[in-house]
Amino acid sequence: MVRGIHHVGIVVERLAEAYAFYRDALGLPLRREAELPAHGVRAALLDAGDTEVELLEPLDPDSGVGRFLARRGEGLHHFCFDTPDVDADLRDLRARGVETIDATARPGLAGRIAFLHPRACGGVLVELATPGADGRGRRSPLDLKRLVIGTREPQRTVSAFQTLFGLGEVSMNGGPRTMLAVGQGALLVVPADEVGGSEGLVALSFVADDFDALIRSLDRAHVKFLRGTGEVTIEPTSSHGVHLHISRYRFP
Ligand code: CO
Repeated sequence: MVRGIHHVGIVVERLAEAYAFYRDALGLPLRREAELPAHGVRAALLDAGDTEVELLEPLDPDSGVGRFLARRGEGLHHFCFDTPDVDADLRDLRARGVETIDATARPGLAGRIAFLHPRACGGVLVELATPGADGRGRRSPLDLKRLVIGTREPQRTVSAFQTLFGLGEVSMNGGPRTMLAVGQGALLVVPADEVGGSEGLVALSFVADDFDALIRSLDRAHVKFLRGTGEVTIEPTSSHGVHLHISRYRFP
């Protein structure tokens, strides 16, 4: 039922400061910004190839996002699947006994949206969205390659994503990691022990259209990062709490 990853949601202290990194240093085009009082946030969507990055600034410390920020600090908050009919999906999931936060879909920044409960998806907060008719896929210098999920129960988490969303497994060379294909991207499910005991969303990987230009831009913006030949790893202090890898090549 899902067509791909619509966006990845990141909680930040202040949108204006987060733009300096995500829009200016990484070069992701700002698609729209809006205040959503019902959600207690000011939110922005930036284009990132087939997907988008959603930045969330709490309007109020008692909102869900405000409490997340107080407890965990800035960083990855949720991700969202793109689906053709969120209303039908939500009815189907609820009929199957899946725990959801929203009983019915509602309007959000990404179109019609609904959230599932993290307990349904291995501790990950998952949103479903059916985007409006404003078009997608403006050219951007980065493309989402994969989203990394840490879990203490890899088999259970993998089977939850497979049965709820019909995701197929991408063959790998054995081992405890599992890759699930979603549109042009993938979810990589890894045992929590491999990622410092972290559970839930732990990292994002992008592939750069022009890797050398990206490095020059990061240097100009004084971003802190570890430089490899085919990949850079941004220091979370520069990327608002997100473990972010950016590769020169799409594969592996
Ligand atoms: Co979202």
